[in-house]
Amino acid sequence: MKSILITGGAGFIGSHVVSLFVEKYPEYKIVNLDALTYAGNLENLKEVEGASNYHFEKADIQDSETLKKIFQEHGITDVIHLAAESHVDRSISDPLAFVATNVMGTVNLLNVSKEAWSDNLNEHLFYHVSTDEVYGSLHDDSFFLETTPYDPQSPYSASKASSDHFVRAYANTYKMRTVISNCSNNYGPNHFPEKLIPLCINNIRNNKPLPIYGKGENVRDWLFVKDHARAIDTVFHKGKSGDTYNIGGFNEWKNIDIVRLLCQKMDEKLGREKGTSEKLITFVKDRAGHDLRYAIDATKIKEELDWEPSLQFEEGIEITIDWYLNNQDWLDHVTSGEYQSYYEEHYQS
Ligand code: NAD
Ligand code: DAU
Repeated sequence: MKSILITGGAGFIGSHVVSLFVEKYPEYKIVNLDALTYAGNLENLKEVEGASNYHFEKADIQDSETLKKIFQEHGITDVIHLAAESHVDRSISDPLAFVATNVMGTVNLLNVSKEAWSDNLNEHLFYHVSTDEVYGSLHDDSFFLETTPYDPQSPYSASKASSDHFVRAYANTYKMRTVISNCSNNYGPNHFPEKLIPLCINNIRNNKPLPIYGKGENVRDWLFVKDHARAIDTVFHKGKSGDTYNIGGFNEWKNIDIVRLLCQKMDEKLGREKGTSEKLITFVKDRAGHDLRYAIDATKIKEELDWEPSLQFEEGIEITIDWYLNNQDWLDHVTSGEYQSYYEEHYQS
């Protein structure tokens, strides 16, 4: 029986991956390991927390002794590693936190996995979830391919690139079975409102300024988070060991255009006069070293593993806005910090 350790499962993408695996594979044991940093929110997992194949372990990936115990206790057979510091702006003000979790934490997890699986390394898989930001910033109309040389530009992307290199080094040196995927910007339910889309939805809701870095000309390639979770399921089960897969939506938007779209849709949904929310747009100082454009070529995963996005952006953004408007408690708990008491209330009693 598979016993899969999913790290970072209380975060944005991890919560969708955990929910998908718990519901789709009742025969698997799913162990969600998360340190519950500011970005970890167990309210994201309310729908599966009572499932018999779901287990939660509050732990830090830097703590090897605790990791060893968890591997032993749950007989971990495979790892899907999402735990990370994920916000570029935070990496600019505190790079060492990104080295600690994204680099040291990943290497620690690789070491513990290698030791735990030393008798039969080739029967286990270490799946590392990474980002398109490792490829750097595009200044022409080309796309990131799996073969594009790494050229990270921010402390966040440098730390993710470093972790990708370590995963490949462990595959080469110790013959661990590994796979890596590099995905573009995700959007959807459970997204922490420090990131552009949920931040703007929350600020429009509260009539607060919408801060646009620079001129809003930077381009991101947006993918609905549940499609990313489906892709992770596909790569986990069908990906070739030692290989890399790019995941993206072929869906590029300038930041300013996406914010205008959110304003327009939210005016309609909130019954506000057309143009009301656009007045909240405020151009602010640019992000230091701001990457201009990301764009993923997701041909390989389509051709080799038969995965492609299931949702058009128009549909995904409607679902997303509706989710936030129907789950204002979630937003209020996150912005007030109340979500951080969920663990004590539900797991410590
Ligand atoms: P997130 O910040 O929402 O969640 C990260 C989770 O990791 C949180 O639950 C947090 O508590 C946990 N965590 C952080 N440090 C930890 C530690 N030391 N030990 C254990 N747990 C820890 O992040 P996300 O946006 O869901 O991203 C998940 C992964 O996907 C990351 O590896 C990120 O680099 C990658 N990724 C994200 C995107 C995106 O658009 N959000 C796109 C491509 C790839
Ligand atoms: O490309 C994948 C990456 O996407 C992931 O690896 C990261 O974990 C994830 O955070 C995301 O990084 P970005 O920096 O692209 O996402 P963010 O939502 O922070 O910003 C999106 C764009 O919007 C970016 O060009 C910066 C801009 N922005 C962001 C914020 C928070 C603003 O203009 N104003 C803002 O307030």
